[in-house]
Amino acid sequence: MKFFLDTADVEEIKDLAQTGLVDGVTTNPSLVAKTGRDFKEILKEICAIISGPVSAEVTATDYDSMMKEGLHLAKIAPNIAIKVPLTMEGLRACRSFREKGILVNVTLCFSPSQALLAAKAGASFISPFIGRLDDIGQDGMELLASIREIYDNYPEIETEILAASIRHTRHVVESAELGIDIATIPPSILKKLVEHPLTDKGLDAFLKDWKKTNQSIVA
Ligand code: E4P
Repeated sequence: MKFFLDTADVEEIKDLAQTGLVDGVTTNPSLVAKTGRDFKEILKEICAIISGPVSAEVTATDYDSMMKEGLHLAKIAPNIAIKVPLTMEGLRACRSFREKGILVNVTLCFSPSQALLAAKAGASFISPFIGRLDDIGQDGMELLASIREIYDNYPEIETEILAASIRHTRHVVESAELGIDIATIPPSILKKLVEHPLTDKGLDAFLKDWKKTNQSIVA
């Protein structure tokens, strides 16, 4: 399973990229607004750190303007994936970007039928927002399972499923159990994935016992 970081915070990305666990990055207009920084500057900096796909979302809603914005963003680096909304105009733009060899992430997916259309439009990634479905009392994992089943029925589909709107570590683990290709994870949740109290307790005990031996491994 690939891990993308769901943030526009370059310092967080720099920090976590050192772990070797980060395969890509997703941004969105809200995440960019949080930084208070210039969008294109941020993208340049992220693409200098991360060689995998870096999602950059268009803010236009009609085909022509989406194409104009997307082509502009795609010039920043070859690993930019243009994020388009799951609308008819967005799907049309998706097809056109793909014909030009540009990666596309179709975002704001909330139903299996939308995911089917994104695959038909040749999307590189489909982003089902599981946390936002849970928020309104629906089941985000059920959506992921349904998309996985549909895509697996058609081996010619190359669209990767990117679990988005992840709220907790269980979302990541359950996505992996379903065989979801990618999870885009907020930095705070990625850090939580490594935590276990028994790991901390065990390490403490080992270090205490090691001290008693009066040995040094490198000396
Ligand atoms: C995905 O690409 C989006 O940036 C993100 O996962 C949205 O998550 P949210 O529901 O926490 O805003």
